[in-house]
Amino acid sequence: MDFIKSKNIFLLTRDTLKLLDKRLMKHGSRVAYILYKMLETKGGYEKFEMAEYAMLATLHDIGAYRTDNLSMPLAFETRNTLPHSIYGYLFLKYLSPFEDRAKILLNHHLSFMELAEKGETQYLTVTTYLSLAECVDVYREALGDRFRVSSFRPFEGKRFSKESLDILDRTIAQQKIFEKIESEEYEQELSHLVDTLMFTNEEKKRYMETIMYCLDFRSHMKVQDTAVCISICSQLAELMGLDQKTQEMLYYGALIHDIGMLSIPKEVIESNRRLTDEEMEMMREHIPIIRDILESRLDPVVTEIAARHHERCNGKGYPEGLDGNQMNTPQKILQLADAVTGMINDRPHRAGMPANTVREILMKESGDRNFDPEVLRVFFDNFDQILDVAKQQGKDSLNPNSLVEARYAKLEQALKKMKKK
Ligand SMILES: [Fe+2]
Ligand SMILES: [Fe+2]
Ligand SMILES: [Fe+2]
Repeated sequence: MDFIKSKNIFLLTRDTLKLLDKRLMKHGSRVAYILYKMLETKGGYEKFEMAEYAMLATLHDIGAYRTDNLSMPLAFETRNTLPHSIYGYLFLKYLSPFEDRAKILLNHHLSFMELAEKGETQYLTVTTYLSLAECVDVYREALGDRFRVSSFRPFEGKRFSKESLDILDRTIAQQKIFEKIESEEYEQELSHLVDTLMFTNEEKKRYMETIMYCLDFRSHMKVQDTAVCISICSQLAELMGLDQKTQEMLYYGALIHDIGMLSIPKEVIESNRRLTDEEMEMMREHIPIIRDILESRLDPVVTEIAARHHERCNGKGYPEGLDGNQMNTPQKILQLADAVTGMINDRPHRAGMPANTVREILMKESGDRNFDPEVLRVFFDNFDQILDVAKQQGKDSLNPNSLVEARYAKLEQALKKMKKK
């Protein structure tokens, strides 16, 4: 999988989540930087290890996208800290390659004493550093010039480990971290660090899927849509005999084609009435947004597949109004697959359309030459099978999400009990 570098997977994940809330990702980046510098001061970590921890730290509050009101960050960082810790942990454990390291997120708001009581030893150093780094950033942001790192000392051995406080003092003395955060120079240093990320192809695939699952933070419906759309694309690509590499490119193009939706309000995405002109405009914005995020990060072939999914062969699509001979087969497959997905999946204002209705609509539209005639022919020739498989795969795609939701409810109850004791 040579069409995306490991570093760009990190940047793509971060930029995708920024669409939901920039401030939270900025906080994540600053915390990642403080953690990185503390690990460097401690010593004994390879660069790529620190880069992976920095990536995890950037995402440390990812659960809050689901569980909290992001306009009140102090509430979930200082008072009601359990929900986002649990959800973030489950999301990364089951829907990303972080797996067991996701536990660091689960514990990032536990005090040093609570960690000791729990008998937590795995990733203890990184967890205590992350916990302190997060507090440093939250209080620095809230207090500005009045912030003093010495105000954490009275909590030594209770809220924070002595070791983490000592390392933080040494880091501040040696590295000028706050000055670099102030001048935003830290971003450059983080960027050099993540240059050393080295993911296997399997990890890259799973991280790309994590990005798709982020759609769930805005709209559950969009995750299912994407899964159905991928299934239709893969089946058409196979039936049309596209080579393996093109099939793979199409898979990734389809996987991320709608991530720009994260910047659109849920009420608009899941509206149960006809959208106003203004809201339609807003929806259309997801295309330039996708292009912005993907360009320079991904192979242009994949970017173009994703960014052209609302073009139409008769030139009546958007945003560029390209015509059929300006586009290639995988782009045209995604166009049809995306349109069919919109018909067969449930919408807030109607149930999914029956197969016959889909067929009739497409027959009618074929007169307008909306879609590529060859793609349409293969689709009609295999109509029932493609729809059956796609619907099943759409349902299966909800399993990982439901798993996270179900475990969230259980774990929250268990941890609340533990906290009360
Ligand atoms: Fe947090
Ligand atoms: Fe945080
Ligand atoms: Fe779209």
